[in-house]
Amino acid sequence: MARVVFDNVRKEYEDSKRGSFTAVAGSSFTIEDKEFVVFVGPSGCGKTTSLRMIAGLEKQTSGDIFIGDRIVNNLHPKDRDIAMVFQDYALYPHMTIRENLSFGLKNLKKPAAEIEQKVRAASAILGFDDMLDRKPRELSGGQRQRVAVGRAIVRDPQVFLFDEPLSNLDAKLRIQMRVELSELHKRLGATIVYVTHDQVEAMTLGERIVVMNKGVIQQIAPPTELYNKPSNMFVAGFIGSPAMNFMDAVVDGGKITIDGGRSFVLSDQTAKALRGYQGKPIILGIRPEHIFGEDFALHVAHDHKMMAPVQVVENLGSENLVYFRVGERTVTAKVHPETTAAVGQLKSFVLDLSKAHYFDPATEQRIVSE
Ligand SMILES: Nc1ncnc2c1ncn2[C@@H]1O[C@H](COP(=O)(O)OP(=O)(O)OP(=O)(O)O)[C@@H](O)[C@H]1O
Ligand SMILES: [Mg+2]
Repeated sequence: MARVVFDNVRKEYEDSKRGSFTAVAGSSFTIEDKEFVVFVGPSGCGKTTSLRMIAGLEKQTSGDIFIGDRIVNNLHPKDRDIAMVFQDYALYPHMTIRENLSFGLKNLKKPAAEIEQKVRAASAILGFDDMLDRKPRELSGGQRQRVAVGRAIVRDPQVFLFDEPLSNLDAKLRIQMRVELSELHKRLGATIVYVTHDQVEAMTLGERIVVMNKGVIQQIAPPTELYNKPSNMFVAGFIGSPAMNFMDAVVDGGKITIDGGRSFVLSDQTAKALRGYQGKPIILGIRPEHIFGEDFALHVAHDHKMMAPVQVVENLGSENLVYFRVGERTVTAKVHPETTAAVGQLKSFVLDLSKAHYFDPATEQRIVSE
């Protein structure tokens, strides 16, 4: 196994319509040996391009890529000792599962006994011993996906690369495969780079997550750090569901005044961090799970309370999502399922400001979190 290093890696595509287009704008990171790292971000942010540059399927415009101790800039994909699993994992339909698994190794002219041993080991790990003589069409989507992962395992690569491998599966199967991939990572002790646009998948699988937007890395951190200390408004809004609320506010002495006129006292530490913003606009970020209907806000200081008109109520069974209006913005609260809130009603909400974040409206960078 091995680590993967990007040193100021840039990728520009020449495109007849857009001219020169920057898909990856100078990325630098180190993925440690045996680490499970997820690339996440909206469509077109450069995830697949970054992965394909590790694989050597795409050549970077500038910068250096290392796998293990080797610089691989000019190394052919087949010499990089990686295995990639794609979204459309295209098994050979006319071959049995056993043949699908052995195919790559046969091409490498490995001895038959070694191939047989590796196929057995992979199928034992992934639990498809009884399927080896079947054809892909006789397997379910999840089973086929498992075989695609198996095909990567038999290669025994230094690094596994996954590009949205679960997106063709239904929701339940995706969750099951997510658990299997986590276990597989522990069992193989492998370096894994995994691409998804699904922030839940990123949060559950990644030991560290690289959040990208428009070709630029926004933050690299473990899941809890992304959630608790997002470095900017993009990460704050992208990680967490429903997304973090942003409210316009003004700093006023040791207080902030939220759009709508309500003032709240800040903690000393936060007031100090916001000293440079006196009388200036600021963005208050608060997650839906940190806003409560007053009737269920037992553990939160009740002085951080605001009245606001309810716009929409969505009952999800385990919780209610209540949408209400603050100034020009709609704010979402994820509240206790028994919270009463009727559309049009003026409802009392309590904000847990001990979980608030404050952002600079011009740079969108986080200034401080409580
Ligand atoms: N061969 C190419 N030629 C020109 N532009 C390309 C090429 N491949 C990708 N791009 C552009 O580069 C940007 C990044 O593409 P990439 O495939 O890396 O996105 P992604 O983050 O994987 O998105 P998705 O979640 O949709 O798969 C996009 O704007 C895309 O249109
Ligand atoms: Mg992609």
